[in-house]
Amino acid sequence: MNRALILATVAIVALVLVADHLMAGTIAGGSPASSQTFSPTFYKDVLPILQERCQSCHRPEEAAPMPLFTYEQTRPWAEKIAAAVEQRMMPPWFADPRYGHFSNDPSLTAGQIATIVNWAQAGAPAGSANDAPPPRKWTDGWNIPQPDVIVQMPKPVAIPAHGEVEYTYEIVPTNFSEDKWVQMIEVRPSSPAHVHHAVVYIRPPGSAWLRHAPANTPFTASMLKDPEEQRQAHETTSDLLLVYAPGSAAERFPDGMAKFIPAGSDLVFQIHYTTSGDAARDQTSAGLVFAKTVPARRVVTLQLNNHAIIIPPGVDDFRVEVQGTLPNDATLLSLFPHMHLRGKRFEYDIVHKDGSIEPLLRVNYHFHWQLTYKLAEPRELKAGTTLRAIAWYDNSKNNPHNPDPDRTVTWGDQTSDEMMVGFFDVGIPASMDKWQFFIRNTHDEDHQEKQ
Ligand code: HEC
Repeated sequence: MNRALILATVAIVALVLVADHLMAGTIAGGSPASSQTFSPTFYKDVLPILQERCQSCHRPEEAAPMPLFTYEQTRPWAEKIAAAVEQRMMPPWFADPRYGHFSNDPSLTAGQIATIVNWAQAGAPAGSANDAPPPRKWTDGWNIPQPDVIVQMPKPVAIPAHGEVEYTYEIVPTNFSEDKWVQMIEVRPSSPAHVHHAVVYIRPPGSAWLRHAPANTPFTASMLKDPEEQRQAHETTSDLLLVYAPGSAAERFPDGMAKFIPAGSDLVFQIHYTTSGDAARDQTSAGLVFAKTVPARRVVTLQLNNHAIIIPPGVDDFRVEVQGTLPNDATLLSLFPHMHLRGKRFEYDIVHKDGSIEPLLRVNYHFHWQLTYKLAEPRELKAGTTLRAIAWYDNSKNNPHNPDPDRTVTWGDQTSDEMMVGFFDVGIPASMDKWQFFIRNTHDEDHQEKQ
């Protein structure tokens, strides 16, 4: 960890401590209570926080290693839990709180952190089970309501025990006989521990993309015969249905907005598997909940990319920037930064005409946690608005994730290569497709935005 990061952490802890004092007073009923007079117990004070902020992952078949439902399950972890929440490592969230407001921000309040820390310091008392809140109900399998359609990769992918795995594709026809609007989406690998990330594309019936590749069976680009098609595997104008990465949640678009899947489309699963020492099989599914009525707006996923990254060896704060102007009016909904192991920070800004910068999101990037940041208030952006993304990379030996600090690093699929992608979702008129959105009415300067 470098000095700047340590300083930032210290600053946050200091803020929390000051605020804790205030909150502890409030919780104890307004008396000027010190932390000694507030003695939280598991059932009364801690369990409600676990239900609200932790069990979404800390339950069977989800990402986290241990369930946090009962006192017996939680007690042995008390100290680690206190440390994780105090350092704001859990629940995972990496946005700088000074910029933007996000509807999916799971951060604990200073009061909740104080409750957990005080509880752990007091020896993690159980208290009375009569004080426990009713158990929170979790649906097995899905975090969205029962999907209208589940599209599963028909053939499992065999993941080897060791080594790097080339991106794996599986094309699955939807057989939809009519157009569909998708309000909620959840992507679930059957072997989440082996999935670094997955992208599900919507391939409309007219698309030439991977047209000669087989359907319903896994393949990689190097298995394709046509060199042109091998190259194309990584480039498509097809819209994304969803990007899945560890920690990423199910997608629920605001009312009146949905993703569009034309009749006869295929879903193309593109999955980056990682090995763990044990061979495994994965059969990823996408669960779809359809909109009840035709929405006013279509959600499309755009991206600000910079492929021309050349990160010198040893450099600990290498900066890469990209700008693009919006070809048409759009409602900005969410942001999803993507880098690999050397990724350090990422930011999105609006660059106003007068040159002033309006930060939308600043993230201390963590490779193992690729999150979507959903704007608490969708933001109307006019055609011609300039968006900017900046990424910083740490290619020094001080980066514990760096596989090789002596290498010059360029764009590539594998995690030992790098990427610089600022995904963002926008709402556009329902009748407009992604191609039409990129048609500009006015003659614009730079057009660096990629689809
Ligand atoms: C988005 C999913 C998610 C949420 C929400 C979440 N966790 Fe975790 N947690 C994980 C995963 C995955 C791991 C294991 C990998 C890691 O440590 O990063 C983990 C690890 C932990 C650990 C172990 C750290 C260690 O030292 O080994 C603790 C303690 C913990 N979580 C507590 C919590 C608490 C308390 C909450 C709620 C306030 C919470 N987590 C919310 C996913 C989550």
